Amino acid sequence: MRARLNDLVLERLAAGSAVPAFTCYDFTTALAVVSAAEDARLPVILLVAPKTAAGPGGLRFIRALRGLADDAGVPVVVQLDHATDAGLIQAAVTAGADAVLADGSRMPPVRNAEFVASIASLTSGSGVVIEAELGALGGDEDDSRGAAKHDPAAGMTDPAAVAAFLDASAADLLAVAVGNVHGNYSGEPRLDWERISRIRTAAGTVPLVLHGASGLSSADLERAASAGIGKVNVNTELRTATLEAVAAALPEAMSSGANMLSLMQAWSRAAGSTAGQTLKLLNAAG
Ligand code: 13P
Repeated sequence: MRARLNDLVLERLAAGSAVPAFTCYDFTTALAVVSAAEDARLPVILLVAPKTAAGPGGLRFIRALRGLADDAGVPVVVQLDHATDAGLIQAAVTAGADAVLADGSRMPPVRNAEFVASIASLTSGSGVVIEAELGALGGDEDDSRGAAKHDPAAGMTDPAAVAAFLDASAADLLAVAVGNVHGNYSGEPRLDWERISRIRTAAGTVPLVLHGASGLSSADLERAASAGIGKVNVNTELRTATLEAVAAALPEAMSSGANMLSLMQAWSRAAGSTAGQTLKLLNAAG
């Protein structure tokens, strides 16, 4: 069923929980994620990476996810993640995305806020919910090796800049850089909880978003909601578990008559169980 991302996140935060968002490159993974959410009777967010949306069939994929979300027995949001191109954002919204990360994080804060505000005005009237990102999150969204080159301490969100940024951008949710990275952490992940607390105070009622959750400890995930983090993004963990399961199932699938069904079952099981574990951790207190 359809839900407004910010309302959903605020509602779950009030219950002591955060909503997980999973990057889906294909429909089988999305189906498994939604089934895991339905089994847990919890809401979930399906993320579409910008390269997927802009690639061949990307807008048809978003339309298919829209159908899946509307048909689901739990609230499901379809969000275009890390979007920097206004044309792609508009096309994704027309195709059925009901939330967008208008990502101006590579720009100076004032231009970032202007970019987010321009996307809000471009999509006004469509009911789309806008997330913004303040601070520079390292790593690559689609390649887990990218994080190794990034110092997580660099480019962290400045709590003193948050209130003015939210004022100028009117973003509905705020993604933060607090020691998190996209991809595999090169050492032990260390989130700056003190900084998160100051950002939360500065953000007022705007919920925080934590990207780069793959590789974080169970304790970090369980703590997220109590620190005002209402949405948690996961990609690397989901696609690694899925690819490993597919690789393990492939020889047997080939030797049993090119058995596509057995391969897809392994795929779904891996994606569903990864999503199920994250759903559980983020709702541990809810
Ligand atoms: P990970 O790949 O590190 O889980 O990050 C996912 C993410 O933040 C997507 O926006």
